[in-house]
Amino acid sequence: MSFAINVNGDTHSLDVDGDTPLLWVLRDVLGMTGTKFGCGMALCGACTVHIDGVATRSCVTPVESIGTSRITTIEAIGTTTAGAKIQKAWLDREVVQCGYCQSGQIMSASALLASNPHPTDSEIDAAMFGNICRCGTYGRIRAAIKAAAQSTERGG
Ligand code: FES
Ligand code: FES
Repeated sequence: MSFAINVNGDTHSLDVDGDTPLLWVLRDVLGMTGTKFGCGMALCGACTVHIDGVATRSCVTPVESIGTSRITTIEAIGTTTAGAKIQKAWLDREVVQCGYCQSGQIMSASALLASNPHPTDSEIDAAMFGNICRCGTYGRIRAAIKAAAQSTERGG
């Protein structure tokens, strides 16, 4: 079937089955490999993208469900205010180890900060629950989200 989806501000025409997961479309059709495959069952968060600003597991999102919604991926999250703050904090705090989970972590954290500029610890834990990191970077992820939130307070 034919679909048109908006990814990072650009419209892409696709000819794929309607039940094709968005993750497959991003990686295999559009060649956007920043979004990662981990489990394929909405259990790890590696595939997280934004759909109309909401953190969404792309591995279980059929392309036919997207319609006119706007998709944002890790390739463009730095163009958003919250995403830029999160990416800077990630670098400043040296969050990343192997990196495999990190695009999903950044997408979840950016969605949190965009909707809640001053999240509490419990709100951070709730938003990041389900983004698994085998390298155990959870402490630095929380510190980086707090640093990004403080930069929001300073207007930086
Ligand atoms: S690959 Fe989508 S949640 Fe794990
Ligand atoms: S940084 Fe290695 S899995 Fe998270």
